[in-house]
Amino acid sequence: MNMTNLMTQLQETAQFIQSKIAVKADTAIILGSGLGNLSTKIETEFEIPYTAIPNFPVSTVEGHKGRLILGTLNGQKVWVLEGRFHFYEGYSPEQVSFPVRVLKLLGVQNLILSNAAGGVNPDYQVGDLMIIKDHISFFTINPLIGKNESALGTRFPDMSEPYAQEFIDKAKIIAAAHQIKVHEGVYVGVTGPTFETRSEYKLIKFVGGDVVGMSTVQENIAAVHCGMRVFAISVVTDLGIREDNNVITHQEVLEAANAAEPKLTLIISDLVKAIA
Ligand code: HPA
Repeated sequence: MNMTNLMTQLQETAQFIQSKIAVKADTAIILGSGLGNLSTKIETEFEIPYTAIPNFPVSTVEGHKGRLILGTLNGQKVWVLEGRFHFYEGYSPEQVSFPVRVLKLLGVQNLILSNAAGGVNPDYQVGDLMIIKDHISFFTINPLIGKNESALGTRFPDMSEPYAQEFIDKAKIIAAAHQIKVHEGVYVGVTGPTFETRSEYKLIKFVGGDVVGMSTVQENIAAVHCGMRVFAISVVTDLGIREDNNVITHQEVLEAANAAEPKLTLIISDLVKAIA
């Protein structure tokens, strides 16, 4: 996809969506593996499967439904992307971040990302939540590689605050008010689809990672590039770092995500109001 085509496709997709529903929303939420339940809390005004959206990739992973929703959450209009696109599915980094850029063209300013991630910090337990304060791209490909589209953003974006401190502060206050334990830490983004080897978990811990996962980094970069403010939160679904027991299954990841999902939904639901 060359860059002229990218802008044309983004505009085509955004215009298609706005032709179906002309409502604007400041905030969008992308739901990760096993975390789709939040959409049941939305008073839905409009929903469309990804397959019906021109130029949208189609999600192939179990636990990802693939729908775009517009509705009201806690009194606020939000877009919800139920299901995301991962590099390991064979999508290019540009395709992975395509929905984020469409949201930008739809007028979205705040992006909330959720994901399932493996615990690397030894203090973390399965089911814990971690607010992402920073990330490390662990050999994931930067979605901005290629000719810069200056209509979206600058060639060399600053990444000193990839996750908005204001949102982090608000989310911590919200979590405390609900007596939900949250960590704050560094997300290490990998390509997957293999979970990490024992040595890789050790390396990720050594470089400063608290959790590791297969999404979020490319979406964050595309969002920061086009001037959105991002909040992201991980559900710790397994403990890869444990020497004695780090056999990980996708099933276990989905189950842990589902179990922790109500806490996540509470925080996100209050946060969309707090940042409105
Ligand atoms: N590693 C990478 N991605 C993940 C993991 C993990 O342990 N758990 C959930 N997503």
